[in-house]
Amino acid sequence: MNIAFIGIGNVGFALANNLQKKGHHIVIGNEDLNSQSVKKALQLNSELKVNGIQDAVNLSEIVFLATPYQANEMALKGIKFDGKTLVDCTNPVGAGITHALNSVRSGSEVVQELAPDAKVVKAFTIYGFENFIDSSFPNYNVKPAMLICGNDMEAKNQASVLVEDLGFAAIDTGNLSQALHLEHMTLLWVKMVRMHGHNTNFVWAALEK
Ligand SMILES: NC(=O)c1ccc[n+]([C@@H]2O[C@H](COP(=O)([O-])OP(=O)(O)OC[C@H]3O[C@@H](n4cnc5c(N)ncnc54)[C@H](OP(=O)(O)O)[C@@H]3O)[C@@H](O)[C@H]2O)c1
Repeated sequence: MNIAFIGIGNVGFALANNLQKKGHHIVIGNEDLNSQSVKKALQLNSELKVNGIQDAVNLSEIVFLATPYQANEMALKGIKFDGKTLVDCTNPVGAGITHALNSVRSGSEVVQELAPDAKVVKAFTIYGFENFIDSSFPNYNVKPAMLICGNDMEAKNQASVLVEDLGFAAIDTGNLSQALHLEHMTLLWVKMVRMHGHNTNFVWAALEK
């Protein structure tokens, strides 16, 4: 699949690098082709390509957004998605590890407003990037769960293929309004791991019967 990445830092590079190794074609979208993160990504994986954001989006079937939440407005301004899926990996995290939108609305619903002609799917937000570098848990017979949400079923199916490609079990939690709950899961994970000493590779798995 042709995939664009807006944001190629901790999260973006981990996902882009593993997707490229699975045979996908990755183009980074950044107006500064020589930014630190772009240069580092290209040094680490010379198969990645880079272009301006709109050109990268035009070249792709699906787009990942992995920018600091505060940068979303600038990154998405004027970008035309023409109905493409936009995988929102961003989290609105405020001071003291709180919800930066005061838990009134989700960051992903704001992303949807900033990119009205995209089909936004929230994914790859509930764990630290270390688990995107390596999602394998060889001593278990279940995969780590990746909870996603979005309003468009086709877009969720498209994103789920990549979620599974990256070693996670994709679990559809419902419409984009569920993003607020996923963002609170993120805050829970961050507090447990970054503040209360749980292992960085702490993940959730889904058991059903
Ligand atoms: N870190 C985690 O463990 C983790 C896990 C899950 C989700 N998240 C969420 O994922 C997002 C990214 O986190 P991160 O840790 O990967 O951040 P990061 O390492 O700081 O990387 C941010 C990336 O966004 C790019 N960027 C910033 N402003 C941009 C703009 N206007 N246009 C295009 N690109 C722009 C940066 O490029 P430049 O070098 O040009 O500035 C850089 O490539 C955040 O929203 C975070 O909450 C983080």
